[in-house]
Amino acid sequence: MVTPLTANARDLERELTWFAAVLDTRLKLYFGKEPAIQDVRELPPPVLNGSESPYARFVRHYELPFAERLVVLLALIPLIRPQILDVLWSRNEDTQRGFTEFGGVHGATHGGFIPTGETAAFILAGDDLAERFAIMRLFEGDHFFARHNILQVAPVAAGESMLSGALTLSREFRHLFTAGSESKPGFNTEFPARRIETRLDWDDLVLPAATLEQLSEIKHWILHRRRLLVDWEMNQKLSPGFTSLFHGPPGTGKTLSASLLGRHCGCEVYKVDLSMIASKYIGETEKSLARIFDLAEHKNWILFFDEADALFGKRTQVEHSHDRYANQEVSFLLQRIEDFHGVVILASNLKGNMDDAFIRRLQSIIYFPLPKPAERLRIWRSAFSPRTVLEPGIKLEAVAEKHDLAGGTIMNVVRFASLKALSRGDNVILQADLESGIRREFLKEGRAG
Ligand SMILES: Nc1ncnc2c1ncn2[C@@H]1O[C@H](COP(=O)(O)OP(=O)(O)OP(=O)(O)O)[C@@H](O)[C@H]1O
Ligand SMILES: [Mg+2]
Repeated sequence: MVTPLTANARDLERELTWFAAVLDTRLKLYFGKEPAIQDVRELPPPVLNGSESPYARFVRHYELPFAERLVVLLALIPLIRPQILDVLWSRNEDTQRGFTEFGGVHGATHGGFIPTGETAAFILAGDDLAERFAIMRLFEGDHFFARHNILQVAPVAAGESMLSGALTLSREFRHLFTAGSESKPGFNTEFPARRIETRLDWDDLVLPAATLEQLSEIKHWILHRRRLLVDWEMNQKLSPGFTSLFHGPPGTGKTLSASLLGRHCGCEVYKVDLSMIASKYIGETEKSLARIFDLAEHKNWILFFDEADALFGKRTQVEHSHDRYANQEVSFLLQRIEDFHGVVILASNLKGNMDDAFIRRLQSIIYFPLPKPAERLRIWRSAFSPRTVLEPGIKLEAVAEKHDLAGGTIMNVVRFASLKALSRGDNVILQADLESGIRREFLKEGRAG
């Protein structure tokens, strides 16, 4: 059976044969050994047109040019066939040391040759300076290697050649080219975002028609943005992204709606933790945010900024140095959001807290009201597990009518009453548990039931 893993292995085997021929030719050319051809670029890479391996799809997606293809492969070799590079350990008889022009570094535990930018420059450019400069461009910030977090040369000490850094393929692409599936980024300081998902459906979302209508506007944008911007050539006139503010009381379905939009449109939704960004990562923030935006753009993610007022709240007067940093971050974020070619959703409990200048730049502002009695009834009706039964006598109509609760709060009550049933060892939801659950929620929110 052909799996992504075996398809990668098959294609990379051919790529390695090509690589070995290129390396051999470069060495012959360099040492005047009269190879059959005059330029390594005359050796065409394998044709992977028919292949559906993740590696082949990557090559096609980027229409990967000769140099980029060779560099990706070179970066992958220590992991997949390290011995191919052993020839580069040769000793230079004139200097009694290795060849500077081969680059390469020793690893801490890896026994083989770890290729550097210099190695790439040697193989691709030999001693042609113009070609060398062209190779250096591959490692700059505006190249898609960096923008899409594919590959970089490891940072080097001040004053040293940037090409002396080891070629480093990102974890994500290393994984994609070997095991074959995309590994999801983990939540950490480098990546303060977490994927959110839901198993619920649009039908489960209970909101006024006007709110649903506004949500479908975002859906339409996601589904048709390419045609609108590209085919209809509106990209000069319209901004490339869509930013929406979801505001309303806690538990009214803002996070749920964002997850549903992702599910409906087949995009992943990443929730960015702004509290973490605003306080802890001053200085590092822009870098990690930039990373998230770059990845999101490339992968068609929806970015969801929860508690957006933490950053986009009314500008505070600059008193502490802390605030000054915060404001720099706000300007950076604003700019990045405006340039972003995707969907950004900001959530806040209070629109009044948000900066007016900021609000004007948004494509949509969607209010999530507390549910009315009839809406509460719909939420109650689908809230319980199908494995439970309600105690005879429970009238959900009356419960919905009487208690003014948000959907999130209703779910808290349902969790409470369900756990009570489980702890009794049965599956019956009791009226008394519903009532005490509701009282607890009112207490939590500091209001009287
Ligand atoms: N409008 C709604 N329709 C159906 N279920 C809802 C609705 N609102 C909330 N719920 C239920 O409550 C849960 C919590 O809601 P959600 O997290 O989306 O609220 P929120 O508006 O993001 O709240 P917060 O402002 O506190 O972040 C949902 O997963 C869902 O089960
Ligand atoms: Mg939420």
